[in-house]
Amino acid sequence: MNKVTVVGAGKYGSMTALRIAEYDIVQEVVMTDIVEGLPQGLALDINQSRFVEQFNTKLIGTNDYKDTEGSDVVVITAGLPRKPGMSRMDLLEVNAKIVEGVTEEILKYSDNPSIIVVTNPLDQMTTLASDVSGLPKNKVMGQAGILDSSRFAYFIAEKLSVDTSDVYALTLGSHGETMVPVPSLCTVKGEPLTDILSESDINELVEKTSNGGAEIVGLLKTGSAYFAPASSAAVMVKSIVNNSDEIFPVCAWLEGQYGIDDVYLGVPAKLGKNGVTEVVEFELTEPEKNALIDASNAVKAKVEELNNIKNQ
Ligand code: APR
Repeated sequence: MNKVTVVGAGKYGSMTALRIAEYDIVQEVVMTDIVEGLPQGLALDINQSRFVEQFNTKLIGTNDYKDTEGSDVVVITAGLPRKPGMSRMDLLEVNAKIVEGVTEEILKYSDNPSIIVVTNPLDQMTTLASDVSGLPKNKVMGQAGILDSSRFAYFIAEKLSVDTSDVYALTLGSHGETMVPVPSLCTVKGEPLTDILSESDINELVEKTSNGGAEIVGLLKTGSAYFAPASSAAVMVKSIVNNSDEIFPVCAWLEGQYGIDDVYLGVPAKLGKNGVTEVVEFELTEPEKNALIDASNAVKAKVEELNNIKNQ
């Protein structure tokens, strides 16, 4: 594989492009946006850091989808973040139009890319990109679970004053309210989290995690998080490009796994050259399994909203 495209050269897109470039695993990272000059300027800036950072991946900034031709992996970050006064449905409508258009353009120039969606609302946008692309379901996926797990790991590490590298944390389900933390599989230095912290302490950290994005938005006043989100998307790209089949929590299509069918949902999955190469079924507790089923029903209801918009 030698080409990755990032659509949207905003905060999330440009940081994702930079991180992928710094891995130095592909020849080119193409960044495209509707704003003229923006991807070109950012690409030039990143290219001028190559000498210092010692990576050879070349950034190409463009407003023309022709330059995305033959992409192996495409990350879709194009879209609006939610603004004050904007309802969730308003955001859904605006971003659905953007993601639909972007997906059509990408498929004009790349036959069989893996597509990673990060635009919110995530589950609906991933479903939409999959439907519009007509690609096999395993080739389209969304990023949310790695970010939530990483936030959870950070809060656990802070609470216990340990390094984040000592922590394994996992969240499944959807982004936001229907996030499903999996404390039974979280560990600190190999010890189960449930043996270290009380249920109420764990619940407090879960609450902080699901509120993680909103807390940052509140502090920044304008714009939303992008450092940890970009790391999360970039690591998915790396596993696909390197065909390393690493297991990450990602928004993947379910066909019976965890007793759930026909929905994109956050589950552990292996990522390799064919995108999602396997949805991995971890042993969950009964309450965790039930929470995942509840999350799948919530996502299905949200997909219905999307279908209603499309049929208007
Ligand atoms: N094609 C390409 N780029 C587009 C399009 C389009 N049709 N529409 C908008 N964009 C670009 C904008 O010009 C902007 O540069 O998408 C970029 C979005 O960047 P930011 O506003 O900085 O938003 P960002 O923080 O990067 O978030 C992007 O990720 O986390 C989600 O909710 C967030 O949906 C949002 C997305």
